[in-house]
Amino acid sequence: MKETILVTGGAGYIGSHAVIELLKIGYKVVVIDSMEIGKIQFKDKNLKYYRGNIRNSKLLDRIFSENQIETVMHFAAYVSVPESIRVPEKYFLNNTYSTLCLLKSMKKNKIKNIIFSSTAAVYGENDTEDKIREDYTINPINPYGKSKYMAEEIIKDMSKDNKINYVIFRYFNVAGANEEQKSGQSNKKITALIPNILNSFNKKNKKFYIYGNDYDTKDGTCIRDYIYVTDLVEAHIKAIKFLKRNKNEIFNLGSENGFTVLEIIKTFEKVNKQKVNYEFKGRREGDSKKVIASSQKAKKILGWEAKTDISKILETALKWHQNKIEFLGSKNV
Ligand SMILES: NC(=O)c1ccc[n+]([C@@H]2O[C@H](COP(=O)([O-])OP(=O)(O)OC[C@H]3O[C@@H](n4cnc5c(N)ncnc54)[C@H](O)[C@@H]3O)[C@@H](O)[C@H]2O)c1
Repeated sequence: MKETILVTGGAGYIGSHAVIELLKIGYKVVVIDSMEIGKIQFKDKNLKYYRGNIRNSKLLDRIFSENQIETVMHFAAYVSVPESIRVPEKYFLNNTYSTLCLLKSMKKNKIKNIIFSSTAAVYGENDTEDKIREDYTINPINPYGKSKYMAEEIIKDMSKDNKINYVIFRYFNVAGANEEQKSGQSNKKITALIPNILNSFNKKNKKFYIYGNDYDTKDGTCIRDYIYVTDLVEAHIKAIKFLKRNKNEIFNLGSENGFTVLEIIKTFEKVNKQKVNYEFKGRREGDSKKVIASSQKAKKILGWEAKTDISKILETALKWHQNKIEFLGSKNV
């Protein structure tokens, strides 16, 4: 039996996918999740859930004393950019301060390794034609991106006494669902393109807006990099081993491929044989024309690269969404 990994936010979208893959290869997993967004979707003899907030130091002390944990995968956070603009204090409390609380508890309990979920939002707006590398200018333009960047800075500073080792991953657009459909995106606050398209497939065929069709791209819409959730998780598993021999690195995780908004819509329409109900609006402030990751650093150092193509990403996401509608009834989705 391998070591035990603590997964914060392990009942959420990406965290639950990490749990699935860790269990598959023989890790024991302990989840802490407030269940504010996430839900318990599956059980396993090697999986233990604690319902609670990572700011609760007593609960963390208990978790660390009841389980032999060496590495923490820290996914717990709020993830909606529009909400972070409306209520920034929620994001600085839950994404920045909560990370500080977790690190303090880790130090107190002599837990060394943290793998932190950061975001490409730390780079903010860009006008580069190149793929974005980890040394690209940091300039988050919304409270969500800032809350994550501040957490990165706290992790770096708190690792200077060598009591904490970190890997920070900056994710690009995470998408898709587990192949066996054990989990998928269910966070209703998500306003990203793929969940928007999926919602438009509901019976109500809800309309959504595409901001800007006059960018200098092949069809005028913005280009983004989509990374399959299970590929992303694989990098985290490589990071567990990396932290045994090394310390303190930051990696982008993206597919290094870009697709326009309309390309994603057309692929979905083909897969689902149904038109997507969208309308164009003017450009939105802060949206860059093109955001594509360079993941060369992760390839070179971790031996990781994204494998899954966009059709499979969209197919698994669609299947999950359809199952969810059947399960809950479309009015609840
Ligand atoms: N989804 C993406 O495309 C994306 C992109 C970049 C970065 N990220 C990062 O990945 C991580 C996971 O995102 P996700 O999409 O799985 O989000 P999610 O909302 O599906 O999952 C987050 C989970 O954390 C839990 N949680 C939140 N605050 C908590 C707290 N203080 N204590 C305990 N549990 C708490 C929620 O209940 C939820 O289950 C986040 O840190 C996010 O910033 C996500």
